[in-house]
Amino acid sequence: MTEKTAEQKRLETISLKVNNKQYTVDVEPRMLLSDVLRDELRLTGTHVGCEHGVCGACTIIMDGRPVRSCLVFGVQANEAEIATVEGLEGENGELHPVQQGFWEKHGLQCGFCTPGMMMTACSFLEQNPDPTREEIREAISGNLCRCTGYQGIVDAVEFAAKEMRERTE
Ligand code: FES
Ligand code: FES
Repeated sequence: MTEKTAEQKRLETISLKVNNKQYTVDVEPRMLLSDVLRDELRLTGTHVGCEHGVCGACTIIMDGRPVRSCLVFGVQANEAEIATVEGLEGENGELHPVQQGFWEKHGLQCGFCTPGMMMTACSFLEQNPDPTREEIREAISGNLCRCTGYQGIVDAVEFAAKEMRERTE
């Protein structure tokens, strides 16, 4: 058996399910989950802004809960089930109601905050399918947007809530 190099020794093998697809990847223990998703799995829809847990751009859903992926080490996601923005669209490419809402209601300008905003919204609407505008504002208050003034985003989430209720009726 060949000797492992120092580099190889530092790597940990993790396995995680992202958007229903199983991955096994070797990561350095210090690597952030946001970097594992973007750099190792090439799922660059998850954006990285502050890297300090403040802006919410990197929000993903991990084991059913919204999580800032810049505050989680990749090794902590071993065996986890993760949803990222890439997993929102349907099997035939149809938009998720939240995506449709952002499209219809002009919920974005530069779009940098949008993936995190949408993942937060998806998780919120699962908990509260018929929210008031105030509740929507509260739910997305941890996601910073520099461009929109939030009006279109609130409209988008409200649109998505209605659409999702209609689909389940
Ligand atoms: S990049 Fe993670 S919260 Fe800002
Ligand atoms: S659309 Fe630009 S940061 Fe939100």
